[in-house]
Order: sequence, then structure tokens, then C-alpha cells
Amino acid sequence: MDLSPLIDTQGRTVRDLRISVTDRCNLRCVYCMPAEGMPWLPKDDLLTYEEIARFARVCLDLGVTGIRLTGGEPTVRADLPKLVAMLNALRPGLDLSMTTNGLKLTLMAEELRGAGLRRVNVSLDTLDPKRFHQIARRDRFNEVIAGLEAARRAGFAPIKVNAVLMRGFNEDEAVPLARWGRENGFEVRFIEWMPLDFQHSWERWKLVPAAEILEQIDAAFPLEPMRVSDPSAPATLYRYKDGNSTVGVIASVTRPFCGHCDRIRLTADGQIRTCLFALKEYDFRNAMRGGASDQEVAELLRAAVWRKEPGHLINSPFYKQPKRGMSAIGG
Ligand code: 5AD
Ligand code: SF4
Repeated sequence: MDLSPLIDTQGRTVRDLRISVTDRCNLRCVYCMPAEGMPWLPKDDLLTYEEIARFARVCLDLGVTGIRLTGGEPTVRADLPKLVAMLNALRPGLDLSMTTNGLKLTLMAEELRGAGLRRVNVSLDTLDPKRFHQIARRDRFNEVIAGLEAARRAGFAPIKVNAVLMRGFNEDEAVPLARWGRENGFEVRFIEWMPLDFQHSWERWKLVPAAEILEQIDAAFPLEPMRVSDPSAPATLYRYKDGNSTVGVIASVTRPFCGHCDRIRLTADGQIRTCLFALKEYDFRNAMRGGASDQEVAELLRAAVWRKEPGHLINSPFYKQPKRGMSAIGG
């Protein structure tokens, strides 16, 4: 099998595989889904854990070094620790992480860690339980906080927290969230809201730009930029001048970082997306179910990566939102 790395026409090398294990979720965040949820994928369309692990193995052979589990909400798929163990067995010590809304961590954190999960990112957009209810459309703030504590007890470190700020909802929470992160040992990352919501409610004026967030935090707790250790990481990191903890921004809209992107995404139904904003998907479920050999899967993947989009077009007048939303693509 040809084991040369996965490169594209822009000279980028793919090293990070994000696997959406389900499109379902136990929250209904306003920036992601409509209140009534979405037409979920039929169960037969989902890749089995065996199929996911097989695809991951081919990716690891082709130079992928990190795997992140996403959703929807990954923990709502049955037996997730089993998948974690299967992936970890492919290459013990693999950088295996998960993005979660945290609700199920009280039940699962320890088991996930025992199975080989190394890092978790927990989404939390507000410190106010009432606002949480408005944003996530479920009154479950306390469970997320309990989930974060469970993750800490299980030994996950560092624990990152993703926050999306939106005008009219939580735009005044940059400083409170930053303070809370400093005081409680969570690394907060503010993500600019991207036009990837299923109901197409995104409008530019509703996103809070990273520059504004940083200005507010810097005024309360002076910051200094950190040296870039991994140019492909989406977050720009800052250190608090009075200590060692960090805070970050993911300025996907106002400061795109596509030029350094090393990611591909596998949807729960086995489609490869070479960009969050891709308009095209590559069907690996059918290929694998149709009997493709590892060599054939590798060749299909190499061809898909070669055509990886140079960057997103959010800031162009010709921007066209992909059909699938974030919860079906994986963050
Ligand atoms: N724009 C920015 N971030 C989003 N997330 C979900 N939808 C969007 C969006 N449209 C966040 C979630 C989670 C991560 C996967 O991305 O809050 O933290
Ligand atoms: Fe669920 Fe995440 Fe979408 Fe919120 S943002 S509804 S937690 S998938």
C-alpha cells in the first residue's frame, strides 16, 4: 500500500481526522439546530464502530496523528467507550480527543478515560442557568458543570471549554467566562459563530468578533500572545500576564486560518468532507460496504484530500452554506 502522506494542491498535509459518531444531540443550541431538532439519519446509514475503526486505521497508516470524536453529541451514541477502546488499540498513545456538551460526563468520564480517551473539549456558552436554558433550549446547566467536574476527577487535563458568543444572547459574557476559566482551571476558547446552522439563522452582525472579545478580556486581565507551537491549531492562544493559564479565540470568520488547515471530517453516515464548508462529500460508506480494499479506500482518500478546498468563502458575496449543518458534519 502506498503510505505517502495525504497532501493537497495547496501543500497542506492532513494529520487530523474528526469523526462524527452521531448526528443526534440531547440539546438544541440556537446557533446549531431548530427547536424541533432535525430529521435524524436512519440507523442503517450510520457507520458501525467496526467500519469507523477500519477507516481510522487506513488514515493512521497515511499519516494522521490525531483523532477527535464529535457529533451531534458523541456521548448519545450507545457504547461510545467501546469505540474509544477500538481506536486506541489501533495505536496506543494516539492523540484521541472528544468534543462534547458535557451532559453525560458524570456517567461516562471515567470509563472514557479508561478506554483511552486523552482530552475533552466541553461546550459551555454561558454561566447563567437561565441563559443556558435559552441558548441550549434545555434546562440542564447544572449537569454540564457536574460533567466538567467529573472530567476533572477522571483525570482529564487540560480541560478546554468552547464558548460561542452571540449578540442578544450572551455577548456580555467574554469576561465572566474568562474569569471563571482562570479561577477553575478550564481553558476557555471563544469560537466565532459560523454560518453552519441548520435553520440558516446566521447573520454577520450577530457574531461577536474575536478582536472584541480579546479587547474586553485584556482590559480586565492583561494578556500576552503565546508563541505559535502548532500552526494548524484553529485557536490563537493568549497567556494571562499574571499567571500561566491561557485563553483562546477561534476566529474562523474574521481571521480565517484555512491556509494551515490539516483536518478532514468523517460524517456519521460515512461521508468524507475535506472542509467544514465543503459543498461536496465523498462516500466512503458505500465504498467500504461495496467491498473496497484498504488500498482502494486509501486511494479514494488520497484523491479526495488532493482536492481539499483552499479555504472557506464566508466572507465572499458568493458564499453558499452547505446543506448539512454543524451537528451533521462534526465540529
Ligand atoms: N459556529 C461556531 N461554533 C459552533 N458550534 C456549533 N455550531 C457552531 C457554529 N455554527 C460549536 C459547538 C461546539 C463545537 C463543536 O462547535 O458549541 O463547541
Ligand atoms: Fe448539540 Fe452541540 Fe448542536 Fe448544541 S451545538 S445542539 S450541543 S450538537
